[in-house]
Amino acid sequence: MRTVYVNGDYLPEDQAKISIFDRGFLMADAVYEVTMVLDGKLCDFDGHLARLTRSLAELDIPMPMDVAQLEAIHRELITRNKLDEGGIYMHITRGAHDRDFLWPANLTPSLVMFTQARKCIDTPAAQRGISVITAPDIRWGRRDIKTPQLLGAALAKQAARLAGADDAWFVEEGLITEGSSNNAWIVTEDGTLITRHLSTHILHGITRAALLRYAAEVQLKIEERPFTIGEAQSAREAFVTSAGLLVCPVVQIDGHPIGTGKPGPITQRLRTLYIEESRKAAR
Ligand code: PDD
Repeated sequence: MRTVYVNGDYLPEDQAKISIFDRGFLMADAVYEVTMVLDGKLCDFDGHLARLTRSLAELDIPMPMDVAQLEAIHRELITRNKLDEGGIYMHITRGAHDRDFLWPANLTPSLVMFTQARKCIDTPAAQRGISVITAPDIRWGRRDIKTPQLLGAALAKQAARLAGADDAWFVEEGLITEGSSNNAWIVTEDGTLITRHLSTHILHGITRAALLRYAAEVQLKIEERPFTIGEAQSAREAFVTSAGLLVCPVVQIDGHPIGTGKPGPITQRLRTLYIEESRKAAR
């Protein structure tokens, strides 16, 4: 049984409780982060803290404590749960109050954190690549804020499963926005990496930002711009990035094989590069 953190207490997971009036539960009035853990260390943690700070500020939810304390809880959970490889989920809500759309001043935010042990490096998805379907992007207009309003993503992933695929890529006005829980990338015939530019239409992925830095260091050509389904289907390679999948090849889009239909060499090189650099920088 895991030890989890809830509002000041470390508890066995089956004793952790949150109010039924918590606005996170009633209205998804909350933000979250998922940080990858490799070798018992936090990956890209400063990036996750920066995005958390920004998400909270956009929603005018106060920071429940300073970032050093948030980091200390992450480390305590890694130790208590002997987590070597996996993720840490952190969820901050506006707090609990009788149901009302408006919130009172000075509400105390709720803070929940838990670990999830799972393989990140040696996974079947990374070895074989994943298949995706495309789905209309029905999510709200502020996808740059990492909120747990994840019904759009959950429905798209379920539709993918029913279609025999692994995941979904969202489409808006004929252009791919991002994956249901990851950022979408393609590689063109001449080896250029393409991923959508940052805006309110996508989550500003921490893995995306790190990979852009590493790819620039090894002189890969990069274009940050939207691309169509057709362009993706005729790309040489495709992949996704997230704290869960790292850099993961996409080998099929709507049943159409990408390139050779197998994980491509540029994607594999980027995955290796990302893992090496993340290992070095993890702390
Ligand atoms: N999802 N886009 C969306 C919609 C996401 O939900 C995520 C992350 C990403 C990638 O962001 P990052 O590289 O910072 O993980 C892009 C997390 C992992 C999740 O919800 O579990």
